Amino acid sequence: MIKLEHVSKNFGPEKKVVNDISFEVAPGETLVLLGTSGCGKTTTLRMINRLLEPGSGHIYVNGKEVRQLPPETLRRSIGYVLQNTGLFPHYTVSENIGVVPTLLKWDKARIHERTFTLMDKLRLPAADYADLYPHQLSGGQQQRVGLARALAADAPALLMDEPFGALDPLTRISVRKEFKALDEINNKTIILVTHDIEEAFELGTRICLMNEGRIQQIGAPADLLFRPANDFVRSFLNPQRLQLELKALAIKDLWTWLPAHTSTSNTVPLTAESTCWEALETLTSSPATVVYQQEQKVIDGNGLMAAIAACKK
Ligand SMILES: Nc1ncnc2c1ncn2[C@@H]1O[C@H](COP(=O)(O)OP(=O)(O)OP(=O)(O)O)[C@@H](O)[C@H]1O
Ligand SMILES: [Mg+2]
Repeated sequence: MIKLEHVSKNFGPEKKVVNDISFEVAPGETLVLLGTSGCGKTTTLRMINRLLEPGSGHIYVNGKEVRQLPPETLRRSIGYVLQNTGLFPHYTVSENIGVVPTLLKWDKARIHERTFTLMDKLRLPAADYADLYPHQLSGGQQQRVGLARALAADAPALLMDEPFGALDPLTRISVRKEFKALDEINNKTIILVTHDIEEAFELGTRICLMNEGRIQQIGAPADLLFRPANDFVRSFLNPQRLQLELKALAIKDLWTWLPAHTSTSNTVPLTAESTCWEALETLTSSPATVVYQQEQKVIDGNGLMAAIAACKK
């Protein structure tokens, strides 16, 4: 568990780059720090593992205040993916991934096994990549090594600073899916930084939207979308609003507004848990039959769009 209480930080005498930040993240949760460039996301992460000291406030990791812990002990309990990968240039890929297990004095066979397993999972086959140096990899491959390094020692907490930032949009979507499916992240306390709204909505249990060092809103993705705390939150999400809404709403959320047709000829089946986004992709070709709590409806694209409009009123 990670907890911040009224944490602030300024670099010069004037500007607070982090201003009175408080939040708590439980095991199994992913809190996404989202916000414009320079709003204090990296600074917040760096204070959690004591790469920076806060000006004021308190930070706890697993109930212990971080300033009471030796930085090395603290950092071994937290996997950290740096924004610019931060790989050691003179270490090979496998040596980079094995850095923390080596510090923890795991035996060689265990380090080898762990390193190679993670490389395979992150689509960097060990036979091809284990002995290369970071400069021989693309930016996206370096990021995956950074991710493997952060996961290597199976620390209970994971701080990730723009972990998918160097990937093109297509690769990014597939690496994100693979990341979500990794057993290695189950039950970890994760804080992930991004400025990509779609990524925040896909990966965040909760999102902490920041601007100029301050939290503007912290809540579930649907809270920010449908119950924005202020104009900043509203306008930050506006460019992608329709897409986000379609992904945030499931058919079952619209059940009362969907017209009650019952004809079942030439329809495809759809589950009530499907998002409206998934449903619309299906409904472009044919109407669908949905069964929800013993009731059945047949929906088409028009009916779905009308229900979305009605539910938002
Ligand atoms: N060591 C430092 N000395 C002085 N100013 C700093 C230092 N580190 C960060 N800053 C300033 O603090 C502010 C917040 O920086 P930070 O790196 O936390 O932003 P960020 O939200 O991570 O942005 P980005 O999305 O661009 O990575 C910026 O204005 C930056 O210039
Ligand atoms: Mg940053």
